[in-house]
Amino acid sequence: MTEASAEASAEASAEVVFDAPGGPLQLRRFPRREGELLRAWDAADDYLLQHLQDEAGADGAVWVINDGFGALTVALAAAGRPVCMSSDSWLAHESTRANLRDNGLAEASAQLLDSLEPPTMPVTTVLVKIPKSLALLEDQLHRIRPHVGSGVRIVGAGMTKSIHLSTLGLFDSILGPTTTSKAVRKARLVLCDFAADLDPGPNPHPTTYRLDGSEWELSNHAGLFSHERLDAGTAHLLAQIPSAATVQHIVDLGCGNGVVGLVAAQRNPAATLSFIDESYRAVASAQHNWQSVFGDSRPAVFAVGDGLDLVATGSADMILCNPPFHQSNAMGDATAWRMFTGARRALAPGGTLLIVGNRHLAYHAKLRRLFGRCDVLHSDARFVVLRSRSR
Ligand SMILES: C[S@@+](CC[C@H](N)C(=O)[O-])C[C@H]1O[C@@H](n2cnc3c(N)ncnc32)[C@H](O)[C@@H]1O
Repeated sequence: MTEASAEASAEASAEVVFDAPGGPLQLRRFPRREGELLRAWDAADDYLLQHLQDEAGADGAVWVINDGFGALTVALAAAGRPVCMSSDSWLAHESTRANLRDNGLAEASAQLLDSLEPPTMPVTTVLVKIPKSLALLEDQLHRIRPHVGSGVRIVGAGMTKSIHLSTLGLFDSILGPTTTSKAVRKARLVLCDFAADLDPGPNPHPTTYRLDGSEWELSNHAGLFSHERLDAGTAHLLAQIPSAATVQHIVDLGCGNGVVGLVAAQRNPAATLSFIDESYRAVASAQHNWQSVFGDSRPAVFAVGDGLDLVATGSADMILCNPPFHQSNAMGDATAWRMFTGARRALAPGGTLLIVGNRHLAYHAKLRRLFGRCDVLHSDARFVVLRSRSR
């Protein structure tokens, strides 16, 4: 980078000092990128922390659910509150750890849990950042219920655009009577009174769907990509997965429920499969689905992590991917680009990268730049399936 462009990107970079109600904090997103344009907190975090600070007698342990990059967790840990944080995102965990360190706090000052684990301490307050997926919220509210009692404060928060009548309806029917606050800087709080005598019925998650043309009933934790049916783009990718007796190692990158890897395993009987996703729920669903299709008859690896970081250089014969094109509400193809550069490193010579993407994302240009060549295996008005080979 030249000096002038470094200066320009520094000027364009997002603020990193969050003027939290308890004092300023240094907060960055993860993975850390030079010239990051997005802040690691939002007005809903600020509103929630202000609300907690204004509440008389607010003390005891806090359970923070869906903290994006650790803003709430770090602020509470800095204020000396015992805190456990649940998030389905491995990147959110890493972000929180890095932000704790940057603010002079021990990583152990907050307990980090994946979104399927129960809290590790009795809590007096539950804070829920409202997720985009209603199904995820529904599942999370069911999971909260056994760990709270009357007197526990339950407060949700989100930007007004993500809080609907259906959001409040879920709080009402699963936890107890719920109201909203006035909007402040386009953020709103959701204030819920826990009702011990309410019967919310059973948690409907995880759900299943039958994969067309197979006997497979695929299980999907709430919040997974396309958890109700096979995605149309994924269907195009499945149609192009090759079959060979010699393929040894296939990676299902960004595996979701693992459908891509399952089909690849069926067509490539000698292959070991690696299923990778940054979502704990995705990897848990993929592992469950692998067990129900193949049992212990074939080796497979299941890993939560960022892209191909955990895959050894030159070790993969085939990498299959329907890349994500947004991360935590930020649209962009930075993750896809990291996945493609990771694939160039992780593929064995002659290995294949097969991806599906929305046409308008123009992945072929990126793949040509990295691999020198990119073949179009399928193309229609919405999707392209592309193949590149490692040289
Ligand atoms: C478009 S979905 C595809 C899911 C599944 N392969 C399918 O086709 O149904 C993209 C997946 O990538 C995962 N993902 C997002 N960012 C990631 C990252 N940095 N590393 C690994 N996986 C990631 C998401 O959690 C999501 O499951």
